[in-house]
Amino acid sequence: MPFRLSLFHVSAVALLILSSAILNHGRSTPARDVCASLDQPNPLAELFPNNATGVLNATLAIIPITLEAARRLIPPQYGILEQAYRALIPDFPEGMYPVMVQAAHDHDVQLRAYGITIDDFSRVGFEFPFLDLLGDGYSSFRWAPAQLITATHDIALEGSRAYGTVVSPAEWEPVCDAYRALPNGATYFKGKSVTTPEFVELEMSRLQDITLNPYPLNFFKNITNQPTFANASTCDNMIRWFNTSMSVGEFAPAPVLGRIRANAFPFEGLEKEYTGVYGVQVATPFIENNYLDCQSMRGYAGTGGPGDSYIEGANVDE
Ligand SMILES: *[C@@H]1O[C@H](CO)[C@@H](O)[C@H](O)[C@H]1NC(C)=O
Ligand SMILES: *[C@@H]1O[C@H](CO)[C@@H](O)[C@H](O)[C@H]1NC(C)=O
Ligand SMILES: *[C@@H]1O[C@H](CO)[C@@H](O)[C@H](O)[C@H]1NC(C)=O
Ligand SMILES: *[C@@H]1O[C@H](CO)[C@@H](O)[C@H](O)[C@H]1NC(C)=O
Ligand SMILES: *[C@@H]1O[C@H](CO)[C@@H](O)[C@H](O)[C@H]1NC(C)=O
Repeated sequence: MPFRLSLFHVSAVALLILSSAILNHGRSTPARDVCASLDQPNPLAELFPNNATGVLNATLAIIPITLEAARRLIPPQYGILEQAYRALIPDFPEGMYPVMVQAAHDHDVQLRAYGITIDDFSRVGFEFPFLDLLGDGYSSFRWAPAQLITATHDIALEGSRAYGTVVSPAEWEPVCDAYRALPNGATYFKGKSVTTPEFVELEMSRLQDITLNPYPLNFFKNITNQPTFANASTCDNMIRWFNTSMSVGEFAPAPVLGRIRANAFPFEGLEKEYTGVYGVQVATPFIENNYLDCQSMRGYAGTGGPGDSYIEGANVDE
């Protein structure tokens, strides 16, 4: 949920001011010059010039926790739609709930028709999918209560805070990519708060035997297309496309296994290490519709309807 641009509400004049503020911001950020990302360009800007579009190059990893622990961490008013995730991962251990770590580099974010581009930034956080935000028993939403976000990126920091997210400005390794290869072949990504002791660090290796992969790509597609909220004042509708050139051939989604060390909300306090963590590394372009009325997302295809992100031929698992 990176930034705060809702074209519903801004007049052309406001938009001009906004865009010049963004451009000035861009110029004053030295990171722009030093950061040459390996990420592929945004292929959706041309197709959806009037929408906010971009690329998310991400590691998505699942940490199973007990349903009791989930119940303690997730605000009590949001039911957990256990049958919704069991429909996708029937072999998931009894009595457990899948927390997702999303560690990503946001790249080439644009509002093409207005000539607006936004500097790349990184972010990481624990996210809680399959929540019954509306109490209807079937619409899945994802709670993303906190994020570490690039400390120099005011638009991303404020854009996320506007959802009620607990945001910690952070610095990154690598500085402008989704991860970096280590000499041992594993990949590395770390975000570290510049204001608190919080950090999240991932070291993942490509899974050699993909028959061991417990999570189908469909599961991640489903989770990442669920509308997201923090304090539930508004919802973020990010539509991630898994069917572009970014998800095939050399860029095909890669199942990974590794470890995550973290001290971050809502698992804060003690540093924890999670080992044997499975996930996927996948880059997807996206269209983002910000600050929507959550009620309007009831029965949205990403939440439990017929599904809108099926892809032929681009899947690890299908
Ligand atoms: C995602 O990031 C990795 C690490 O920087 C890079 O090797 C890969 O090419 C990127 N994928 C895409 C589709 O941009
Ligand atoms: C693009 O933005 C418009 C207006 O904000 C919205 O109605 C439309 O659904 C968005 N397109 C997509 C593909 O989300
Ligand atoms: C997500 O999974 C649920 C079942 O758990 C399904 O009803 C829904 O259609 C899926 N959504 C998408 C976008 O695949
Ligand atoms: C949620 O956060 C936003 C942004 O900080 C704030 O304006 C709003 O009042 C908060 N809503 C609730 C219910 O806490
Ligand atoms: C790719 O996926 C998106 C989102 O799921 C869908 O709207 C679009 O029609 C698909 N494009 C193609 C060419 O299948």
